[in-house]
Amino acid sequence: MTERIEVTSDQDVVRVRQLVRTVAVSAELSLVDQTKLVTAASELARNTLVYGGGGTVEISQVGNGRRAGIRIVFTDHGPGIPDPDLALTDGYTTGRGLGLGLGGARRMVDEFDIDTVVGQGTSVTVTKWCR
Ligand SMILES: Nc1ncnc2c1ncn2[C@@H]1O[C@H](COP(=O)(O)OP(=O)(O)OP(=O)(O)O)[C@@H](O)[C@H]1O
Ligand SMILES: [Mg+2]
Repeated sequence: MTERIEVTSDQDVVRVRQLVRTVAVSAELSLVDQTKLVTAASELARNTLVYGGGGTVEISQVGNGRRAGIRIVFTDHGPGIPDPDLALTDGYTTGRGLGLGLGGARRMVDEFDIDTVVGQGTSVTVTKWCR
């Protein structure tokens, strides 16, 4: 099952945090992993809002019989990211942040993918596996 949140305001970012926490608890992630996933989701949802001009967050429980996890997809139709490797560099920002969101989020999950096209938008997919 996939839960979907439209992100167009700060309050929606709060809702993303709350829903990710709830799903992480029900998937029996450890407390530390819950917090890592919530923190990553918060940063990515904020980027969707601030740079992407809003978008959607889709949260699913995934599994293949051998392991279970949570996958979250952040999608926007904003300007895209011209150089994703640069954007992932700690300290790089085009805004007013610290430039730590993307790199920090990547370190807090098990799988991290950016699919972005300049002029079309950005989709970031993260997965955290239960251990
Ligand atoms: N969804 C997005 N669409 C377009 N550009 C993005 C998107 N997400 C990130 N970026 C670009 O990548 C840069 C780095 O993002 P990152 O989250 O690491 O830092 P930040 O948002 O600038 O600051 P912080 O997250 O520390 O407050 C952003 O400044 C922005 O230029
Ligand atoms: Mg950010």
